[in-house]
Amino acid sequence: MIRRYDFGTPFPTDSTVLTLTPEAAPVPHFTTRQEGTAVSFSLPLSEEDMIFGLGESVRGINKRGHLYRAWNSDDFSHTENKASLYASHNLVLFFGPEKCFGVYVDDPGEVIFDLGYTHRREAVITSTGGDVSLYLIEGESMIDLCRQFRQLTGRSYMPPKWALGYIQSRWGYATEEELRTIVSEHRSRHIPLDGVSMDIDYMQDFKDFTWNQDNFPDLPGLARALREEHIRLVPIIDAGVKQEEGYDICDEGVQQDFFCKKEDGSLFVGAVWPGRSYFPDFLRPDVRQWFGSRYHRLMDAGIEGFWNDMNEPALFYSEESLQEAYAMADRHRGGNLGIDETFALKDAFVNIANSPADYRRFYHELDGRRVRHDRVHNLYGMNMTRAAAEGFRAYDPDKRFLLFSRSSYVGAHRYGGVWQGDNSSWWSHLLMNLKMMPSLNMCGFLYCGADLGGFSCNTTEDLLLRWLQLGVFTPLMRNHTAQHTRNQEIYRFDNWEQMRDVLTVRYALLPYLYSELMQAVLTDGMLFRPLAFDYPADATACRTEDQVMLGRDCMIAPVYEQNATGRHVYLPEEMLLVRFRSATDFDLVPVPAGHCWINLQLNEFPLFIRKGHVVPLSAGGEYVESVDWKRFALLGWLEDDVDVVTDLYDDDGQSTAVTLKEHLTPIRVAVSEGRAAAEAEGLTLDVTPLLID
Ligand code: GLC
Repeated sequence: MIRRYDFGTPFPTDSTVLTLTPEAAPVPHFTTRQEGTAVSFSLPLSEEDMIFGLGESVRGINKRGHLYRAWNSDDFSHTENKASLYASHNLVLFFGPEKCFGVYVDDPGEVIFDLGYTHRREAVITSTGGDVSLYLIEGESMIDLCRQFRQLTGRSYMPPKWALGYIQSRWGYATEEELRTIVSEHRSRHIPLDGVSMDIDYMQDFKDFTWNQDNFPDLPGLARALREEHIRLVPIIDAGVKQEEGYDICDEGVQQDFFCKKEDGSLFVGAVWPGRSYFPDFLRPDVRQWFGSRYHRLMDAGIEGFWNDMNEPALFYSEESLQEAYAMADRHRGGNLGIDETFALKDAFVNIANSPADYRRFYHELDGRRVRHDRVHNLYGMNMTRAAAEGFRAYDPDKRFLLFSRSSYVGAHRYGGVWQGDNSSWWSHLLMNLKMMPSLNMCGFLYCGADLGGFSCNTTEDLLLRWLQLGVFTPLMRNHTAQHTRNQEIYRFDNWEQMRDVLTVRYALLPYLYSELMQAVLTDGMLFRPLAFDYPADATACRTEDQVMLGRDCMIAPVYEQNATGRHVYLPEEMLLVRFRSATDFDLVPVPAGHCWINLQLNEFPLFIRKGHVVPLSAGGEYVESVDWKRFALLGWLEDDVDVVTDLYDDDGQSTAVTLKEHLTPIRVAVSEGRAAAEAEGLTLDVTPLLID
């Protein structure tokens, strides 16, 4: 059951799809306090209580013990102390001996989640502005709460099937020739590949919806040619529009009054990659309609997928903040600076990026009402994603396009996926990638993934290999890195064959992964779940954070430590270990419940299948369209005389109007006297790898 409680004048965020009538306070379970404009909700915690949710944020899956701040931030340093990353996913779930409820805090301004940080035995959620709709969700389990939350906030985005293929990316690809080389280097070595991302350098002077005509003299021709090789190009679009007379997007926005303005009515100017830029007021439907329609230019050139970036929005500086920093520098010019002055001078320039003052300098307009940006800050990225998705729908309502964004808010999960932003080539970020997946799924973001190999810093061949082994399971599987880092394409490394072999597992598992992802989309479920959600009565499982459940049948436990040749795994029940080296080279090892050590050489990684479940493994392919979706081996550990029934979802991979019913194929495995026989209409199934007890 979900109940809504309103405080102040909540801003209509469109994050929910159900309209609930607000109830009269008090909010059950919580003590509500008003202090100035702020309203806070506190609740005592018992020693055992666990806290889940908050989607894209640092630290553990159990969020208890840290302080988080909903404030979408362009921050490339994802260290443990960070309270905010690029997104605000204000869903918090409380789970303990006497707790099974959650709250969704629908406030697009700053919200502080003090989850046992100030006092270990207390959680306090504070809306700084005090205009908030609080949704209290009560149910029978964590999975139930997440399902109800999705019913409140809408069905998750459905990617096209090809978007589950491997995508190669780097900040710096600048020419047609470079892209063609990347494709041919993959294809000639039989490294699977479905897409190549185009970062800002494809543009003309970093201008949205343009491409550099010298470097891409015939973009439609290139897109067509690569499409014949089953490769899609995936260009980036940034939020800021370059301020330049004669640039049509800028001119149109100025003429039609589509950009955010300051209090005095003049246009707000902030700098991003193109230098001084304007910021579309994405909160307005007419602006979304305009911006969304501009993607059509690239779609006409054959593009079927995009990533939206810098949409917190990121601001390197504003005219005002830059002037203030110069003034400060002038005041100190020629002086003999003491420690305080030295730091103040340095900070004057460092802190001009994404400054709170700048976020107070501009406004949005809604129905004739002006709203200062900081009050609705966290909605900006979501509405850029929405603009794009609505533009795609206008272009072709029957087709799915790839879309993922850096910044988001609850509700954006209906329009696109997310990637986890500018991580680093650190082992700890591989682990963070894993931990973030279930949290993102709780909040509805099912199509997600991190920059495999790491964005900042130089990766190493073992780190990339291990990271790809996790990436095998994440719906977005993209290798991306920053400008000036070491080359990170698979084929640059001595162990590229091992990396290629890892990718063969991804493609062999695609029918399973796609089926589980789509079933999660269509049933408001989750692809990744903490062990606590599936084994709530198992205290050890509840505290296990470096393993996560995948789909209905599996658990994953990637290696995330340098030079490790194995890892400890906790099994809440008997499972079949599939120790993969490639799609055709793996061991099947039945493992009893409990603690165990699993040997995993650098080129080996595990998938655990619950006993009594089966997972289809296809022959794979070098691109999604080449995978045979009708012929599989079944992997599993079954009990004699116990039949297994499961189902596999499949569709054409691109239609938007799909239902579960019409696309599920039941698979029946009959087991008797140590032998298995499987049948499913239209599928050819090989049961020889099945282990039978
Ligand atoms: C941002 C993005 C990153 C991209 C870079 C250049 O930092 O997060 O992925 O490569 O901008 O566009």
